[in-house]
Amino acid sequence: MRIYLDHNATTPVREEVVDAMARVLRDHFGNPSSVHAEGAAARAEVERARESVAALLGCAPRELIFSAGASEASNTALGPLLRAWAGAKRHVVSSNVEHPSVEEPLVALERAGWRVTRVPVSSEGRLDLEQLAAAISPQTALLTLLWANNETGVVQPMQRISELARARGVRIHADATQCLGRLPVDLRAVALDALSLSAHKLGGPKGVGALFVRGEPEFEPLLRGGPQERRRRGGTENVPGIAGLGVAAALAASELEARSHEYARLRDRLWDGIAAKIPRVRRNGAADALLCNTLNVEFEGVAGELLLQALDLEGIAVSAGAACASGAIEPSHVLLAMGRSPRQARASLRFSVGHGVDDGQIECVLARLPDLVARVRAAGDA
Ligand SMILES: Cc1ncc(COP(=O)(O)O)c(C=O)c1O
Repeated sequence: MRIYLDHNATTPVREEVVDAMARVLRDHFGNPSSVHAEGAAARAEVERARESVAALLGCAPRELIFSAGASEASNTALGPLLRAWAGAKRHVVSSNVEHPSVEEPLVALERAGWRVTRVPVSSEGRLDLEQLAAAISPQTALLTLLWANNETGVVQPMQRISELARARGVRIHADATQCLGRLPVDLRAVALDALSLSAHKLGGPKGVGALFVRGEPEFEPLLRGGPQERRRRGGTENVPGIAGLGVAAALAASELEARSHEYARLRDRLWDGIAAKIPRVRRNGAADALLCNTLNVEFEGVAGELLLQALDLEGIAVSAGAACASGAIEPSHVLLAMGRSPRQARASLRFSVGHGVDDGQIECVLARLPDLVARVRAAGDA
């Protein structure tokens, strides 16, 4: 039996989601834009899912646009939505630890003549609110931030940040992909203008997500085509995928408290064991501001890639940095931004727990890890 501790990369699809998707694929193949009964049945699936995601987020169903994932949602927010909001303004404020699905659109904006300020994080991965406020100018059209970092799990104080943006009259977009089902995301309390999410990080299928946009402003679609999604996203809806997202969102809402408690307990047990059994380790990221399921650890002097491979051979899946085009592991830009050297960043692994992980698995990892770390360290010293 393999032990999967890479839930920030993707999560196993929940049985309830598989069942719902199979049912929709089999029984509701209609095109939601068709006016006959088959179309209406498919449309009902899409709208039921919209209500479920809206209930999880505390927004109106009409404020959600289904997409092919969080990347598309963020590309829409930083593309046509931003252009609709910006007027003559040409400045965006963000951070230096963003996910590529936001960072790459920011680079594209710079190429198009926009100015982007990337506020640096501290050595613990925290954003300084005064620095954020100071980065905002009358030219600023948008503040866009990763709510919970996928690599370190550091959670930014989004409520205070959104209040700061509101007070300055600046729109704010957050990537909440890692948050849903792991921490409360209530758009009645957090004054965001836009938010990106993805189904596959919360027990749903890949290739489905949504963009929340407060108050339904007019903007050009990123994908031009038919009038789907109230003319904001052309193309026939991925009905089974959307239905799967709806079920995953309902599970996330009902299980939030139990999940966050259980994930934190397992994650802490893993860290306590690592700290007790393995010398020269340190945790990356502010321990009091972490996503409940995420543990990022530097094993001093270890080639993280080798440790990852050794763990994989033992049946344990974890993550290190991000694979680059050649398949090699690049040192994490997030850890570099937190002031780690490339060597320290390469010595760091991410463990992320989720549905299906139990105490026995954590013990099993703790039984094998010390020896593997010692062996990889010895190989490096040889
Ligand atoms: C923080 C964050 N944002 C965005 C994405 C991209 O999501 P998707 O795969 O749905 O495009 C991911 C997942 O890789 C992520 O972790």
